[in-house]
Amino acid sequence: MKVLIVGGAGFAGSRTALRLLSEGHEPFVLDCLDPQVHGEHPATSSNVLSLSGAVEILRGDSRDPDAVERSLKRAEAVFYLPAATGTGQSMYQVERYCDVNVRGSGVFAEALSRHRAALGRVIVSSSRAVYWEGAATCREHGRVFPTARQAADLTAGRFETTCPLCGQGVTPEASRETDPEKPDSIYGITKLAQEQIIARTAQNLEIPCVVFRYQNVYGPGQSLKNPYTGILAIFSQLARAGREINLFEDGLSTRDFVYVDDVVEYNVRALTAPLDAGVTLNVGSGERISLERLVDFLGNAMGIATRYFVSGQFRLGDIRHATADVSILRATLGPHEFCSISDGLLGFAQWLTGEQDAGTVAQRFDRSLDEMREAGLLRQATALSSAGRFLRGGNGWSPGAWLLVPVTRASEQRDGGQSLLR
Ligand code: UD1
Repeated sequence: MKVLIVGGAGFAGSRTALRLLSEGHEPFVLDCLDPQVHGEHPATSSNVLSLSGAVEILRGDSRDPDAVERSLKRAEAVFYLPAATGTGQSMYQVERYCDVNVRGSGVFAEALSRHRAALGRVIVSSSRAVYWEGAATCREHGRVFPTARQAADLTAGRFETTCPLCGQGVTPEASRETDPEKPDSIYGITKLAQEQIIARTAQNLEIPCVVFRYQNVYGPGQSLKNPYTGILAIFSQLARAGREINLFEDGLSTRDFVYVDDVVEYNVRALTAPLDAGVTLNVGSGERISLERLVDFLGNAMGIATRYFVSGQFRLGDIRHATADVSILRATLGPHEFCSISDGLLGFAQWLTGEQDAGTVAQRFDRSLDEMREAGLLRQATALSSAGRFLRGGNGWSPGAWLLVPVTRASEQRDGGQSLLR
């Protein structure tokens, strides 16, 4: 099949292109080679290099109707992956996020109608950000959907979500595709619009459409130049530069990290799976890990000391916990053994050793924090609600640097004492 991958010079797209090529398809890419992702010299970007000579890259913007039209003309199936992806950045670059993620989808959706006869499938990358804070279990009210955390609560160190009915603490649960979609970040809002615009148009045109809601994708090829999102890239570069990692909130937020090759596997299956209608599917490992544990795992995989501090800073628009329920994914596209976080981090760390970017993202990262602070979107909690926390840690800790206070886990964290940070 001639497969167009819009946004295909990025992380998941370029790896998908190479896999399709190895399976006898003819992938080709339309990509603007965004400097935030690829750096000022995109020809030297590792993903662009990986495609060069093997997969054609048409340089063009996904918002440009001519570029989209020219590339769709040759396609029998299409992956739609272009997006601005920083949750924090989206909260102040609102117009740009709407333009890239929403208007771009409109341009693409309009073009689809002219190519409906040739197109056998449209596959769209969306995000778990559409689920807002996701699902949770309340002891009294069962499965509930906590509302967005308020700035006043976060400032007071109340980071955990609560039951919307009784305000009691809840236990986070995996998100299902049938859960309500109520994104809170501009990024999430634009991703929901994106998936709906394209899926609805494909449905009208009777083109089978798969929407994937990805959790935090990581692995070889992840942008090391983008300081706005992708904590494994950012944290690994800070660690390589010998810097301490700043864990926001109390370091106990959790995410579901899914290895890029697992995403590629399901992308490829989605291309040929028998489907007569549209379907929306979660893609994640199904496991959650706290940021604090993640830093230790990362240090072990990289074989270096990682040191962190729990800053109590928080980003407006951030969610607290994320995990995917992947039962519908498995039922629809078949079972698959997901890569464990420790094996995935080893693959990531191995790839990092050949990359030269240490220091660059670390400097840009400081600027990205200043931007967010100036926009009033990065704030400081004045207290931690837990009974206390280690304020410094990591697998490279030195005993002198520790300020030892009792650790309280997220599940135990309610409205306890007020232990001041740093
Ligand atoms: C990520 C994705 C996004 C995806 C979403 C799904 C990437 C590149 N971005 O956004 O495309 O749709 O997951 O959930 O994977 N943090 C710190 N210290 C820092 C920076 C961040 O503690 O210096 C925290 C954040 O507060 C957050 C977590 O790390 O809790 C993850 O941040 P980030 O990598 O930006 O990812 P998401 O916002 O989850």
